[in-house]
Amino acid sequence: MNSGNLRYFKDWFSDFCRSFYMDDENEQRNITLKEVHTGHVCRNILTLAREESLDAERMLIAETVALFHDIGRFPQFAQYKTFRDSLSVNHGLLGATVLKEQKVLERLPEREQDVIIDAVKFHNAFAIADIADAETLLFLKLIRDADKLDIWRVFIEFYESPEKERPEAVGLGLPDVPSYSEDIFSCIRKKEVVSLTSMKTLNDFKILQLSWIFDLNFRSAFKLLHERDYITRIAATLPQTDDVLASVADIYSYAGEKLRHG
Ligand SMILES: [Fe+2]
Repeated sequence: MNSGNLRYFKDWFSDFCRSFYMDDENEQRNITLKEVHTGHVCRNILTLAREESLDAERMLIAETVALFHDIGRFPQFAQYKTFRDSLSVNHGLLGATVLKEQKVLERLPEREQDVIIDAVKFHNAFAIADIADAETLLFLKLIRDADKLDIWRVFIEFYESPEKERPEAVGLGLPDVPSYSEDIFSCIRKKEVVSLTSMKTLNDFKILQLSWIFDLNFRSAFKLLHERDYITRIAATLPQTDDVLASVADIYSYAGEKLRHG
């Protein structure tokens, strides 16, 4: 793969996004959100890849994975008007299908195509898929970290913006009420990622997002998490009860440990 390929992919992606632009202002906010998110994820993955000392060609592949990782989001939203996979379609699988059907990657060697498609396909799986291929695994880990780092930004901006200006699909339609589900805290104590199925309120979803730190792969990701202060900023939007504060303390100490020792 060379930089000309990446330029072509970027142009292709812009055209692809544009083909989903919507007249309704509220709907378009969700499309814009994913286009902007993609740009941030590309920058995140390059930062991580640089810290992991990837060579120039792998940097290009990493950026391509980031560019295409959420390509399934656009047809998903167009058809179902939601980003909730459980109510619509698995957007990773759909993204892989789009890449294959549209033959976007055709100009690359088959091996590179497979690595990119598999990383897109599994980027959103609950846990890292059972993949033997070291190269695929590397890009899968990179995209999962780069993606989470930007989803935190998206959510913080969502919570911090006036309700009328929020891209609605971000909150997954969960009620913004003061309550939360207690059973979520046992996952945090066990250092486990909370499953989407256990969410009932927006607060549950915020705690779930904090639990993603247990799935970060690279020390450089913990560095960015720390620099951007995401834990504190999400925690600040939660009710400051003893349960919540104890969980947040657990999360801080885990992140601190990873930051120091990797
Ligand atoms: Fe994403």
